[in-house]
Amino acid sequence: MEITGLCKAFPGVQALDNARLSLRSGSIHALMGENGAGKSTMMKCLFGIYRKDRGEILFEGKPVSFQNPREALDSGVSMVHQELNQVSQRSVMENIWLGRFPGAGILVNERKMYGDTKKILENIGLSIDPKEKIENLSVSQRQMAEIARAISYNAKVIVLDEPTSSLTETEVEHLFEVIRLLRDKGCGIVYISHKMEEILAVSDEVTVMRDGRWVETAPAGALTTDKIISLIVGRELLNRFPKKENVPAEEVLLKVENLRGAYQPAVLDASFELHRGEILGIVGLMGSRRTEMVETIFGMRKKESGDIYVKGKKVNISSAKQAIGLGLSLVTEERRQTGIFDMLSVTFNTIIANLDAYCRFGVLNDAEINKDTDGIIQRLRIKTPSRKTKIQNLSGGNQQKVIIGRWLLTQSDIVMMDEPTRGIDVGSKYEIYQLINDLAKNGKAVLFVSSEMPEVLGLSDRILVMSGGRVAGVIDARGATQEEIMRLAAKYL
Ligand SMILES: Nc1ncnc2c1ncn2[C@@H]1O[C@H](COP(=O)(O)OP(=O)(O)OP(=O)(O)O)[C@@H](O)[C@H]1O
Ligand SMILES: [Mg+2]
Repeated sequence: MEITGLCKAFPGVQALDNARLSLRSGSIHALMGENGAGKSTMMKCLFGIYRKDRGEILFEGKPVSFQNPREALDSGVSMVHQELNQVSQRSVMENIWLGRFPGAGILVNERKMYGDTKKILENIGLSIDPKEKIENLSVSQRQMAEIARAISYNAKVIVLDEPTSSLTETEVEHLFEVIRLLRDKGCGIVYISHKMEEILAVSDEVTVMRDGRWVETAPAGALTTDKIISLIVGRELLNRFPKKENVPAEEVLLKVENLRGAYQPAVLDASFELHRGEILGIVGLMGSRRTEMVETIFGMRKKESGDIYVKGKKVNISSAKQAIGLGLSLVTEERRQTGIFDMLSVTFNTIIANLDAYCRFGVLNDAEINKDTDGIIQRLRIKTPSRKTKIQNLSGGNQQKVIIGRWLLTQSDIVMMDEPTRGIDVGSKYEIYQLINDLAKNGKAVLFVSSEMPEVLGLSDRILVMSGGRVAGVIDARGATQEEIMRLAAKYL
């Protein structure tokens, strides 16, 4: 596959400006670049989702211009999207075969569909029932089901747009095995990811884009993490973490005692304290119920027993609204389901949690709303043509930044973040780290869940390790080692 001179403009942005990519068969090609660099757009032009303005795409030597994804799939080009778009009320097999059910006419050959699906799932080592409804699957299982769908088309080119952002380490290893297998069968694979270590481990070649343009293509063996980072951000980035400047105080802002959630999967037993000015990192394996714990504190999930104290006062939180009123905020993990109002503007998405602050005598203060939104756009360097742009038109990483901005505006004292840097590029990660630091320095208490160990070690004052729904230990981040953390993470398995 040879893409050259690809251009694509959206109102207010030149998303692609002479972009190019040259994909060999039997290779894994990593595509990297900042949030909004144009990675997804280039692939969507290829896949027939967007119409390109200019440029040429050669597939097996012949010019192609797929008019829609269907055409692309039929020609052997398949894509797993960054934002999953599955029909959650339908089964795994229906999602895989949607629009091309085996059988004649209206008679769907269910047994064949079941058998074929099972075979594909087994091939990629996924032990889920083809008849299971998508909504009952975890995010990672859903991701794997999407990959199974791509494979089911016998594709020659497979594009994976940030496939591992919600997978565990074992799942990632597994996925790598699968794509290496596909590569060895002669597939060309485009692999989009922000994770340096992954890229170096799995890819044969790397292409870096910036501002819609091609920057460099090189064999992975010739690159180092530092080199890639400087290509991506266009300058040297000396440190991956800002210097710590916060000083945790004695005062306890949040205290949780024997917290237990009502509905499975639930947090089983959590007790901890969070101090003013402190950054508490929360780690654990996938399934350790970190998300469940923070969502229970925030009133999004029903509590069964246990006590929560905010600034020394015992509170009863049964809704997110109450939590916000008490000075808590939560940046959620699954932004597609719990965070984003797709069709609405960046402005709306930024201010929604803080609406009361702009409302006087039932009238919204637009000037203030706009000022605050612009402030957030600047501070977090959100790439958007204007604050009126629909959030769905922002790149994945920039949507995440809007959500973080939303919670900054609420001025809450206790800021909880669930995987705040998922899908965020290296440069912006640094800014989010800086922001977390600043929050703590200014006397807020920050709790963040993360699956990236370096980030937890680099940012936290203390680290809380969860295992099987329980707090397995809280340790000082200074001097903490990965081994110690992993041992705690396995304590209640
Ligand atoms: N449908 C659309 N309408 C308007 N603008 C869009 C649309 N899709 C993408 N853009 C803009 O095009 C630019 C490139 O976005 P793209 O999604 O390709 O970035 P990306 O490299 O995939 O970033 P990320 O790492 O955050 O996923 C961004 O400025 C984005 O806001
Ligand atoms: Mg993208």
